[in-house]
Amino acid sequence: MELKARAKDPFKVKASCLILGAWEKGFSTPLLSRLDQTMQGAIRRAVRSGEFSGKKGEMLILHPSPEFPAQKILLVGVGPRNQFDLEQLRQAAGRALGALVGQHLSQVVCALPLLAIPQAGLAERIQATAEGSLLATYRFTRYQSRKTLQETLLPKGLTLLVERPKDLEQADQAISTATRICRAVSLARDLVNEPGNVKSPEWLADQARAAAAEGEFNCTVIDRQALVRDGFGALLGVAQGSEREPCLILLEHLGGPADAAPVALVGKGVVFDAGGISLKPAEKMDEMKMDMAGGAAVIGTLLAAALLKLPINLVGVIPAVENLPSGSAIRPGDILTSLSGKTIEVLNTDAEGRLILADALTYVKRFAPSLVIDLATLTLACVIARCKHASAVLGNDQSLVRQLIKAGESCGERLWQLPLWDEYDQQVKSEVADLKNTGGRPAGTITAAAFLKPFAEGTRWAHIDIAGTAWRDKPAPYATKGGTGVGVRLLLAYLQSLSCPRS
Ligand code: BES
Ligand code: MN
Ligand code: ZN
Repeated sequence: MELKARAKDPFKVKASCLILGAWEKGFSTPLLSRLDQTMQGAIRRAVRSGEFSGKKGEMLILHPSPEFPAQKILLVGVGPRNQFDLEQLRQAAGRALGALVGQHLSQVVCALPLLAIPQAGLAERIQATAEGSLLATYRFTRYQSRKTLQETLLPKGLTLLVERPKDLEQADQAISTATRICRAVSLARDLVNEPGNVKSPEWLADQARAAAAEGEFNCTVIDRQALVRDGFGALLGVAQGSEREPCLILLEHLGGPADAAPVALVGKGVVFDAGGISLKPAEKMDEMKMDMAGGAAVIGTLLAAALLKLPINLVGVIPAVENLPSGSAIRPGDILTSLSGKTIEVLNTDAEGRLILADALTYVKRFAPSLVIDLATLTLACVIARCKHASAVLGNDQSLVRQLIKAGESCGERLWQLPLWDEYDQQVKSEVADLKNTGGRPAGTITAAAFLKPFAEGTRWAHIDIAGTAWRDKPAPYATKGGTGVGVRLLLAYLQSLSCPRS
């Protein structure tokens, strides 16, 4: 689907389908009144009959007379005017485009960017519309036959309307930004959606290499032998139950001054999490192919940062392993010596994410980063507590946490902070080692972060638990079923705020 911007009257532009937004109960917009007149009161009749009221999620198809330049009109409800913001715009665009997939349309014209939003400029409106549209049309089609592919056919072109010709330069720029970001989000989704039989740690490393080639950044893969030599005991402990060799993927985008400390991103890369000897229940175990979503987000973020040429130095680290039960797997009660030298009593082999992250957090200190952010599908407790609507954030630096929350609000990937008080440290203290890898049932998301805290000591650090947001079993306005690619737009919004602070 090719995107472009045009400055034209929505009722004078040729289209297979024209997308128009309508506020809830607000048919006073000049555009809609004009349309209503042209169509002899068709909109007012639909409102009176209760068919359409402009509520979020409502859609109405209109068929204007043959002399009208658009073949059909898709009216999209965008909710109350005083609640309309960039996220509502993104969702409205997503719903509209989602409804047009499989309809074999050639040119779709979208007038949604013409709706005003206080405190948001044209570029932001265009970017949000483009993001919502592109992300809603994402499909994971690699394993589908021709016939099913027909149902996923996208419109050939999408034109976003602006008011004045002098807006076009800015709009083109915003479309190009959104296209790059969505390319990276789609890659993250693809990596998550790929089945477990395909995605070994080595495969993930190959995908990272391909992304690095595409974005022209660096990728180094540290193999098992080197991990053994250097003493990545916690990571190797998790990996030893699988026949697939683990690795550590290192990505570097060096867009800043040579002497500037990098921002470090760490992403959990468990390519499949069966739980190990502490085996998971069979129900929904298939979803555990998504347990590398943190790693996918890091690969996606590096790709986007590189494609957008962000003027910062960025390091990404992904510990990649598979967690399976076998005769060589770690047992509950085993004690591992981590890369940091700290010893860990493994009480539950299903709490494997924190083990590999512990070594990755230790490793990343070699780069003397200005701050570290890790992303991980870490705890079921987080799925229960936050549901699908927010990721959890915890950290040892409140200003970093606050900036991340703000970035999340600006891009629609919301974060909710949980406390990381020292009181929780007790729950992960072991009687036979320095730490134990479970803190019991209470506050599971917090004690997982409390476990990570000592490994991040000495650096500004935030931990984001994306267990509830990385995967969807129902589609959302601009996400399909499956991997969401969560984290890419969040981290990017944060990194952009670092390289050009707005406030
Ligand atoms: N990958 C899982 C967490 C998870 C569960 C993510 C469901 C998404 C959906 C993680 O490795 C795990 O198994 N965590 C355990 C830890 C527990 C044994 C301390 C959990 O949360 O149950
Ligand atoms: Mn697990
Ligand atoms: Zn896991």
